[in-house]
Amino acid sequence: MKTATIPQEKGELVLCENPGQVGRRAAGFLFEAAEAAVRRAGTFFVALSGGSTPELMYQALAGPEFRDRVPWAAGEYFWSDERCVPPEHPESNYGLAERALLSKIPISRERIHRMRGELEPERAAADYEQELRRAFAVAAPAVPRFDLLLLGLGDDGHTASLFPGSPALDEATRLVAANYVEKLDAHRLTLTYPVINAARNVLFLVSGEKKAPALRQVMGGGGAPVPAERVHPKDGKLIWFVDEAAATRLD
Ligand code: 6PG
Repeated sequence: MKTATIPQEKGELVLCENPGQVGRRAAGFLFEAAEAAVRRAGTFFVALSGGSTPELMYQALAGPEFRDRVPWAAGEYFWSDERCVPPEHPESNYGLAERALLSKIPISRERIHRMRGELEPERAAADYEQELRRAFAVAAPAVPRFDLLLLGLGDDGHTASLFPGSPALDEATRLVAANYVEKLDAHRLTLTYPVINAARNVLFLVSGEKKAPALRQVMGGGGAPVPAERVHPKDGKLIWFVDEAAATRLD
């Protein structure tokens, strides 16, 4: 088994053999964090990630190891980001989580808070900010604090939908941004750094050798800074669930 280390200030590294183990280990963490939050506050707030990597985590959570143990009914389910597409669209992050997890666990639908990718982007972002404030019962300028916030890492070092050179990187007050991404020639909806860095637990799920250069950069690669480098929970944990293929360039 390969070994690897990351600088202490970058958080905790959980090195996994393969993408399946990334999913299972992250699922185990969610289970423990959800239990702790329910003991503390009677509920847990989670922001689910998009992209393909979390699918194995969702499948593990919907499987026999976790399905009947996680206090699903006490959860409030949000997203870290979304594509500007309707929920039934194959690229919908909500759609992925619905198919792989939410349709298979015992939760009431009003606890599912999806970003409305089908709406005009600015309107969708404003609506979601209101939804966050309502569900967390947090008035501006206070920032909602997720118990668990899932993120992925793009080949270019983007995370959520905070892409290199995009306007939402500089957002310091709004909780949700409609972010125009030039390389996609499209808008994305994304939680902003103030929300991400207010979370109790931020989990990165990173698998595949294509991610090795970006992960190396995040861990102090010395190249041009990338958006994932600015994820630093103020008063929370940062955990990297990484498979060996993605960790090939780590020390
Ligand atoms: C999205 C994501 C994005 C994703 C990375 C990694 O909507 O695309 O939230 O930030 O996490 O692009 O994507 P993969 O997991 O597919 O490699």
